[in-house]
Amino acid sequence: MKIGILGTGDVGRTLAGALARRGHDVMAGTRDVRRKLGERPTDTDESSYRDWLAAHKAVRLGTFAEAARHGELLVNATAGHASLEALATARPADLADKILIDVANALGPWNDGGEMELFVVNTDSLSERIQRAHPRLLVVKALNTVSARVMAEPAALAGGDHDVFLAGDDAAARETVSRFLREEFGWKTVIDLGSLAAARGLEMMIMVWLKIWAALGTADFNFKIVR
Ligand SMILES: NC(=O)c1ccc[n+]([C@@H]2O[C@H](COP(=O)([O-])OP(=O)(O)OC[C@H]3O[C@@H](n4cnc5c(N)ncnc54)[C@H](OP(=O)(O)O)[C@@H]3O)[C@@H](O)[C@H]2O)c1
Repeated sequence: MKIGILGTGDVGRTLAGALARRGHDVMAGTRDVRRKLGERPTDTDESSYRDWLAAHKAVRLGTFAEAARHGELLVNATAGHASLEALATARPADLADKILIDVANALGPWNDGGEMELFVVNTDSLSERIQRAHPRLLVVKALNTVSARVMAEPAALAGGDHDVFLAGDDAAARETVSRFLREEFGWKTVIDLGSLAAARGLEMMIMVWLKIWAALGTADFNFKIVR
């Protein structure tokens, strides 16, 4: 399948790499291809994007708009504060009637030393803002409650005995994404929370996630619903 992944950070790389290994035709999207290829590694990236791409030759890099055009299925893996801006660069026709798996969290720019804050909360969500801005896109919130590695390799943690959630206004799109997560990454339990309004709660979970991350000193953990 042709997949467009908007985002070149940890999530974009992890999902693009995993899906290309599965034989999908993946294009990653960035603001400026030349600038991205000229970037040096940062404190948080293990390698420059150029080096990462050299090690993942099946993945192609384009602009956000080109990745949106390429994909039959799209993934939003951009910084939450920039997601609307990134998607706005795509042609409306390239977003129409496509599923967008929205993994982004509604966090503002990294605030060194300060507490992270959500820029939308309670009565609205980033996913709903994306859906309103692009009514023909089929937005499905998913995977935002786990780290990039856990997203693509759930079995590496507790044998995969833990849960991921999704939400979206289109029932068929939710079902498609649920199957996709099971088949491509091996998720065993995908809990369907119904309409996209559930993204409010899913996005708020990042505030708890960040505290658990700090307390445990690792991002290799997840939520499991016991009943
Ligand atoms: N990291 C995780 O484990 C994790 C887990 C769950 C959810 N998430 C969510 O997934 C998303 C991606 O996270 P990440 O850690 O992979 O990377 P990130 O650093 O949050 O985002 C990187 C991407 O955002 C784009 N971006 C940043 N500022 C921008 C701006 N002002 N305008 C346009 N684009 C901008 C970057 O564009 P360029 O390509 O041009 O640099 C890059 O593609 C985030 O919303 C995050 O909250 C992350």
